[in-house]
Amino acid sequence: MKIRTGSLAEMKRQGKRFACLTSYDQQTAEIFDQAGIEVLLVGDSASNTVLANDGTVAITLEEMIPFGRAVARSAKSALVVLDMPFGSYEESAEQALRNGIRAMKETGVAALKVEGPRIEQVKALVDNGIPVMGHVGFTPQLVHGLSGFKVQGRADDADRILNEALALEQAGAFAIVLEMVPATLGALITEKLSIPTIGIGAGSKTDGQILVWTDFAGLGSRSPSFSKQYANLREILRSAATEYADEVRSGEFPPPEKDFS
Ligand code: KIV
Repeated sequence: MKIRTGSLAEMKRQGKRFACLTSYDQQTAEIFDQAGIEVLLVGDSASNTVLANDGTVAITLEEMIPFGRAVARSAKSALVVLDMPFGSYEESAEQALRNGIRAMKETGVAALKVEGPRIEQVKALVDNGIPVMGHVGFTPQLVHGLSGFKVQGRADDADRILNEALALEQAGAFAIVLEMVPATLGALITEKLSIPTIGIGAGSKTDGQILVWTDFAGLGSRSPSFSKQYANLREILRSAATEYADEVRSGEFPPPEKDFS
């Protein structure tokens, strides 16, 4: 069954939780899609997980588009959402719409994600038929303005974050990512909103959860404390590469049965 934005709304109504992962390429998109992950986010985390930048600020729309296209072509069931990168939507509703239309046309994804309470931008996209996922709490594109990777909403900014989430719902967002906020705030926003919330470091009460795939699979060299490592791909690949190199050096690989006659 193809997951659409309405499927997530229906799951919230029925009290069913859903799972989301990031993906930036054909193979992980196919694997996670076959595993039944409901949402694949082509996150701008590709900036640091794939392109080796220090954070998400540097990645451009031009760089995001091939990742989006690969995932959209490879996922049969999952809802594929593309992150609008820093610099592609902040100036105005016009800029957001121009780049949003380009992203939709050139990737084939079903929705876009926009960080922060960019209400006019979200309205412009939604009014023109582009589903938008919001993102409040810690917003990595503003890491410098937020003075580093810090939990948000622990003090009087909790009300502000709740109001931002409500305003995004009002503007037409179909779901909202809550990143690095106290579990009590994650639960409160989830209760107050009629659209689904997707937590990352926001406690267990959100409607969905999302993890960066290289963190959850143990491929990266470090991962945030709120994440969980479900595999150790880094060690598996390192050990496979060492074994292969040893066999090449000893002449064991390739064996005669691999020869073409
Ligand atoms: O880019 C990303 O991976 C994200 C998730 C952390 C939600 O925005």
